[in-house]
Amino acid sequence: MEPRVKQRTGKVDIAWEEAGRGAAVVLLHAFPLNRKMWAPQVEALAGRYRVITPDFRGHGESGVADEDSTMERLAEDVGGLLDHLRIERVVLGGLSMGGYVAFAFLRRWPERVAALVLADTRASADTEEGRKGRHETAAVAEREGSAAIAEMMAPKLLGQTTLEGKPEVVAAVREMILEASPGGIAAALRGMAARTASFDLLPRITCPTLILVGEQDGLTPPADSEAMAKAVPGSTLVRIPEAGHLSNLEQPEKFNSALQSFLSSLD
Ligand code: MLT
Repeated sequence: MEPRVKQRTGKVDIAWEEAGRGAAVVLLHAFPLNRKMWAPQVEALAGRYRVITPDFRGHGESGVADEDSTMERLAEDVGGLLDHLRIERVVLGGLSMGGYVAFAFLRRWPERVAALVLADTRASADTEEGRKGRHETAAVAEREGSAAIAEMMAPKLLGQTTLEGKPEVVAAVREMILEASPGGIAAALRGMAARTASFDLLPRITCPTLILVGEQDGLTPPADSEAMAKAVPGSTLVRIPEAGHLSNLEQPEKFNSALQSFLSSLD
């Protein structure tokens, strides 16, 4: 499907796709991928829901601005897109960086979130060492381009089961990383380095919340999800076997079954 492109501020164009009709479900992708990572979920959900998948600025087919992509700016881009589409309330889902953006969105517009899906993400901020690493990686992206980032990141994003047995998923992930611009990658890395922790927010989340994590996730390990599940009142935690950090792509059937049963429980 061709993306629709929207000019929001004159500074950055946001590309997105939508499929299906019904209650709106917005899915926010991981760094440094793009909306295509949600293809298995779009296919599974579009029969019953209106599924909206944006590309964050600097990723996929969205434009990039000359400023750090803070989680607040990325959340504003999502809010601007929903305003443009005249959608007030959504089920908001985010994987990894998409989850960090979901937290920023929730702080700003809690009334717009009917339910929350947090996949392979965490509530903590970066450590000092982590921040330093982000700035170094941003410099690599600017100096050597997106291919260098694809080399570095693809093996970390995927679990052992996928790396050993699903070459098509490994190739798709590399391809998506190549679609991000070096400037967009650097801006997002600096934006993630600047993010604050979200632990204070978790006990105040009042909407139904599903937390998913790949059992082989080495970037945001299951312990991070367990900590979030303890802190978010009434939340449900689902562990996805044989999946790494990109659990939705690595084990789409298991991920979709948890997501669909959560969404059905909202009816
Ligand atoms: C992501 O998958 O969005 C990133 O790995 C998140 C991060 O680096 O913290």
